[in-house]
Amino acid sequence: MENRGSHHGWPQEAAVVGAGTMGLGVAECFAAAGIRVLLTDATPELTREAKRRLVRRAEGHAEAGLLAESTVGRVEAVETADEVAGTVGDVDLVFEAVPEDIRLKEEILGSCSEAAPQDAIIVSNTSSLPINDLSEFVGRPERFCGMHWFNPPEWTPGVEVIPAAATSPEVVGRLVEFLRSIGKRPAVVGDGPGFVANRIQNALFLEAVRCVEDGLASPQEVDEVVRSCFGFRLPFFGPFQISDMAGLDVYENVLDVLRDGLGERFEAPESLRKLVEQGRKGTKSGAGFLEYTDEERERLLLERDRRYAALGELLEDLPPVDAGSGGAS
Ligand SMILES: NC(=O)c1ccc[n+]([C@@H]2O[C@H](COP(=O)([O-])OP(=O)(O)OC[C@H]3O[C@@H](n4cnc5c(N)ncnc54)[C@H](O)[C@@H]3O)[C@@H](O)[C@H]2O)c1
Repeated sequence: MENRGSHHGWPQEAAVVGAGTMGLGVAECFAAAGIRVLLTDATPELTREAKRRLVRRAEGHAEAGLLAESTVGRVEAVETADEVAGTVGDVDLVFEAVPEDIRLKEEILGSCSEAAPQDAIIVSNTSSLPINDLSEFVGRPERFCGMHWFNPPEWTPGVEVIPAAATSPEVVGRLVEFLRSIGKRPAVVGDGPGFVANRIQNALFLEAVRCVEDGLASPQEVDEVVRSCFGFRLPFFGPFQISDMAGLDVYENVLDVLRDGLGERFEAPESLRKLVEQGRKGTKSGAGFLEYTDEERERLLLERDRRYAALGELLEDLPPVDAGSGGAS
């Protein structure tokens, strides 16, 4: 995890409020980046236990060869405090990761905003609560923002940055720059239900469950199809580049068949039909959702093949993951 980014500068000190699955992983990332970290949980006893778990977690990563021994020392140096005020009083960044309960978030964000320095930035790791609603719990809401990490936080590069209506653009810029400096890949997205990642992930999940319910495949077979067919592409390309490379006219035809068989949820979007009508059918016609010169297209296709070959080799070298067996049908 260390040496992935080039963090220096802001923030020097960060508070992590709520030291569970996400808070501990984020604390490990911050500490690994050389940031002074303060941690608190619901009670002094839970906070002490969380610190023990944090150190054990870092030691486990070091034993597995995933973390340098020197970074374990940085994690051991993480400080704890018995309540929110003692944790956030002196920091530049407050990371809130208490359970997903709006009343609890109200209480915690309220005390963070009272006790933190006026210019400290306060972020919430909420997966689903509207960022605009949470911003109302923070005094000076221009310094509040959503910062949605993914589990496990140490290894997942993507982080959604979700500004509230009140969030200042300068705060958004600072958070994006900071995340990049610790090796993350932030994307600024809007405050809609599930933001972007959970909305798309759940659309996929629902169809996966329906495939099993319709008797098309077992859960194991669905998992194999998702990870080994189109999922194989996803570390490198998102749906827009993938559909551009496949051909938007092909996508439109397939969607018409899906709509006829499965209903309106598969109706091709107007924006897709329009692109096809305009002759923007993807890389093969020089433009689809994105635009490509001949040279860019050739490079893209070659790089695609290189990446797929490299991933194929990596998967062969890694020991198989136990898939689980049987289960409910
Ligand atoms: N688990 C995930 O995969 C995931 C991914 C992205 C976002 N999130 C979001 O991150 C947040 C935390 O989720 P989690 O999975 O880490 O939950 P968790 O239950 O593992 O951790 C929450 C921690 O907050 C502590 N806590 C409870 N009340 C507190 C209080 N009053 N003051 C301080 N700490 C308190 C709990 O003791 C616990 O240690 C939620 O908003 C969740 O939606 C979770």
